Amino acid sequence: GSLEMYVDRLPQMPKVRGYSVERGRATPVHLAVGMYQKKWKFHRDLPATTVFVFGESAESATFPGPTIEALQGVPLSVTWENHLPENHILPWDPTVPVAIPRHGGVPTVVHLHGGVHPPQSDASAFAWFTAGFRETGAKWTTPTYVYPNVQSPGVLWYHDHALGLTRANLLAGLLGAYVIRNPAVEWPLGLPCGDEFDRVLVLADRSFYANGSLYMNSTGDNPHVHPQWQPEYFGDVITVNGKAWPFLPVARRRYRFRVINASNARYFNLSLSNGLPFHVVGSDTSYLARPVAATHVVVGVSESFDVVIDFSDDESNTPEVELVNTAPYPFPDGNAPGRLSSKVMKFVIEPAKTRDHSRVPARLLEYHAKVAEEEATRKRYIVMYEYDDGATGGPTHLYINGKRLEDPATETPRVGATEVWEVVNLTPDDHPLHLHLATFQAVRARGLVGLDEFRRCMARLNDAARCNVSQHAAGDAVGVPEHERTWKNVGKMAPGHVTTAVVKFLMVDTGEDYPFDATAEPGYVYHCHILDHEDNAMIRPLKLIR
Ligand code: C2O
Ligand code: CU
Repeated sequence: GSLEMYVDRLPQMPKVRGYSVERGRATPVHLAVGMYQKKWKFHRDLPATTVFVFGESAESATFPGPTIEALQGVPLSVTWENHLPENHILPWDPTVPVAIPRHGGVPTVVHLHGGVHPPQSDASAFAWFTAGFRETGAKWTTPTYVYPNVQSPGVLWYHDHALGLTRANLLAGLLGAYVIRNPAVEWPLGLPCGDEFDRVLVLADRSFYANGSLYMNSTGDNPHVHPQWQPEYFGDVITVNGKAWPFLPVARRRYRFRVINASNARYFNLSLSNGLPFHVVGSDTSYLARPVAATHVVVGVSESFDVVIDFSDDESNTPEVELVNTAPYPFPDGNAPGRLSSKVMKFVIEPAKTRDHSRVPARLLEYHAKVAEEEATRKRYIVMYEYDDGATGGPTHLYINGKRLEDPATETPRVGATEVWEVVNLTPDDHPLHLHLATFQAVRARGLVGLDEFRRCMARLNDAARCNVSQHAAGDAVGVPEHERTWKNVGKMAPGHVTTAVVKFLMVDTGEDYPFDATAEPGYVYHCHILDHEDNAMIRPLKLIR
């Protein structure tokens, strides 16, 4: 039978403070955060599930992991410790580019998504390590990563990034939230605050066997090519903070929710069942200049939105409000979400006990960097393309610009540069393009005409310029929703469109260069954040130069 919805209360994940306070001053700390195998209850009526999760100890480890709270300007160092067993709990595929240790163990490497930090701390997919650092990948250099937290306040998250195993490691639970705060800048905004009214919601779809274990396919769509790999994982159970369809009692007042989509491949189109708007105040690691009221917010894979919901704003006085999902899967033209995956969680509204002193201010934060295409010193074409071998069963692999991760870097921007990236999506699905280190704003998407001819040309020449991308980009221009107009680290790239993005390789809030050597080895990456695509192998190096 299927699981009853709204029987488990939304958990708060444990908080880990990424600084200490001595004589009123915040000072740096060092954390050891481990990865453990343990059992986790996703639902009252589902037997406990074996997961891989983060925690300061095995006992305190959670799905998702603890929320790490950092302060802007206070660096944090973290030793990510692998305490995982000899064998993976999920199937994986030896035929995609993948880390295979010689002596067993589960390769992991932890990336801080949205972090502005040196390449040595960026978690190259080749910098993986097994339990006790017994075995390490070719680009492993250090057990301890340093996060300078120099960027402006916002929502980040940390997750595994091991070569060819990212989809299995995240599905198993290796993910958690990370918030950078700056009270001096944020307090005056007056947004809802404190543990109760400022919450992180980590969304992730999963499927389960009746015995509680996580379902992941063990056969591929093209088993003669890839025995296990499939192009997208979709689960029909929606979990929030590690519970299936939880409920949260809320007072009739304002709440701030930092929503992170940590699914492997599922997009969410979120709305509230009583039609209340989300007051979007930020996305990814940045605030919007002004709040934007939106009744629907599409959250791509790995994207985050920072929203305020005012439960007192509801004239109908409904006692219960559902957070619902209408995003087709794959997005945007796949199946409509079913009875299960169309529900996310429920808010149970109670009268407010105290006065609500929070507000949604008219102005939020503005950054130094401006979205100006004319500032760009370089234009690049980024072509997303999927390959099949002519057999049935869908794509065999996906590449960016026809190249693999191992191929030499072709995206080599200068530190401090502004570039325009024209992202050409020749596939039938949306892809969430994610850049490490840099942030960008999409300015428009233009429909592609003569798509078949263009695809054929790309299959032959593998060169967008020679295939005349500008001539094909003759369709109607589509604007970017107002609530997405800020400095983002992930953007939705529409199928059959060329998306124009202004990319900044500098600190967008100050306009200054990074306060560390961003040109060092092993460099960074950019990739599609549908994890099944990233693993096979929609990922490329991003190598900054001076
Ligand atoms: Cu969220 Cu390269 O990762
Ligand atoms: Cu993709």
